[in-house]
This record gives sequence, C-alpha cells and structure tokens, in this order.
Amino acid sequence: MTEREFLERALTDAAVQVRDLYRRRHELSIQHKQGPTDFVTAGDLQIQQYIEKLIAESFPGDRLVAEEQGLDRMPDDRDQRCWVLDPIDGTHNFAVGLMPTFGVSLALVEAGRPILGGVALPMIDQLLIAEQGQGAWRDGQRVHVSDHDLLEQAKIEIDFSRLANRRLVLTRGHDIINTAGQIRSQGSAVVGLCAVATGDGDGYVHPSLKPWDYAASLLIVTEAGGKVSRLDGTEVHIFDGLNGILAANPTLHARMLELLN
Ligand code: IPD
Ligand code: CA
Ligand code: CA
Repeated sequence: MTEREFLERALTDAAVQVRDLYRRRHELSIQHKQGPTDFVTAGDLQIQQYIEKLIAESFPGDRLVAEEQGLDRMPDDRDQRCWVLDPIDGTHNFAVGLMPTFGVSLALVEAGRPILGGVALPMIDQLLIAEQGQGAWRDGQRVHVSDHDLLEQAKIEIDFSRLANRRLVLTRGHDIINTAGQIRSQGSAVVGLCAVATGDGDGYVHPSLKPWDYAASLLIVTEAGGKVSRLDGTEVHIFDGLNGILAANPTLHARMLELLN
C-alpha cells in the first residue's frame, strides 16, 4: 500500500467513526487541558488512537506527532520524516454541535514540508487530498483557489481562536478586518484553510497555530495554487517553532501581507 492509499483509507475510516461519535457526542467524556475552554473529548482520543495504530502497523518506525496524549512533542531532528495528525480539528464545534464544522487532518512531512496531506470533513462527507507537485483534489476532482483579486470583495477567515490570542488578532489583523468584503471565524483551522483551497473562501489568517492544525491543509492550499506563509511572509517549516499562518490566493496573499505588517 502506498502512503497515499494509506492516507485515504485512514481518513475515510476515521470519518465513519467521527460521524458515529458526533451522533453520540452528549455521551462522550471530556477532559480539561489548560483551562475551562480547552478540552479534549473521548472522540478525539479514539480517532488519534485508531490512526496511531494504523501507522504503527503500516509504517513501523515512522514517527507520529499528534495533538493529544503526549504525542505533541516536536521531533528532535526537525527534518525527520513524520506523520502529523489532528484527530479532530474544531473540537468545540464537534462537542457542542453548534455547527458540524470540524475535520480530521493527517499529513506526511519530510524536511519540514508536507509531501502528502489529507483532510476529512465527516459531516459533509468530503475528503481533500494533496500530493506534493501533483495537485489537490476534493473527492477526486481537482480544486483551485479563487481568482478574486480585490480584498474589498473577498471572503476572509480571521480565526479568533482562544482568548489569549484575541487581542493579537485584533491588533495584527486590524487593517484586514476593516478592508475585507466579508469576515468569517468558524472555529476550525482545517475548514478555514480548505475553503481557501477550494475557492469557497479567499483567505485565512491565524496568529498561533500548531503543526497538526495546518500541516495537511498547507499542502492542500499550495497544491491548489495558493500561497501559505508565516505572518511576516517567510516560508513555513512545520517544526520551525513559529505559529502564525497566512493563506490565500497569490494576489490576495500579497495584499494581506502588506496589511498585516
Ligand atoms: C483549534 C481550531 C481553531 C483554532 C485553534 C485550534 P482544535 O483546534 O483549529 O479554529 O483557532 O487555535 O487550537 O483544538 O479544535 O483541534
Ligand atoms: Ca486543531
Ligand atoms: Ca484537535
């Protein structure tokens, strides 16, 4: 089985489980992490354990970096080949059913760059896959970023994230918020980023993401013709210890970069 076949299988199976978990979300136990709004559900843990086991069986020896259960440590050798997993991105949306806006994200990273990435959006039954140099697909159909070039008419996702980041978003993102045609904040990095890849959205900004939040979507956006960088415009190395992410089609990326800085 190739890595790509593996990725598609793992995410398709995970999506089936997530749909079942979502129906049973009120029964799932919750553990608090660093504060009252930072928690993990038994659903997140089930999906992480499932994919961890699949990787160990199919690619023994491959390292996994994942959000939960102590797997969140960055590799000592930052160029090492490893899988990067967010078992559920958008845990709040998943847990409360506010809107079924969440996804499962898995990437294969080499030398700090994703070479394969996939995001399952279980509640709309979509699978987005990208392979370095090959393109990006949603359910087998090629996807492309939008060609909108005016920020004044663009739909931009400003991910407000947790309270600690909010002031930073407001200060740093001030000019974008006051210029963009429309602003969204859906509470799932993978949903916001994949919307840029498919052209449903035009841009995405987050001041403080972790590698598992964006590793797969970064590749999906770039293979769809978009540009992804740090907030100062520099190229992303997944394990460079930096957190900001700016993604958009190339024209809007340049304009947003100007406004951010
Ligand atoms: C969160 C989501 C959210 C973003 C947070 C992330 P989680 O991931 O992607 O949109 O603003 O910074 O932590 O915790 O739901 O996996
Ligand atoms: Ca996440
Ligand atoms: Ca998560």
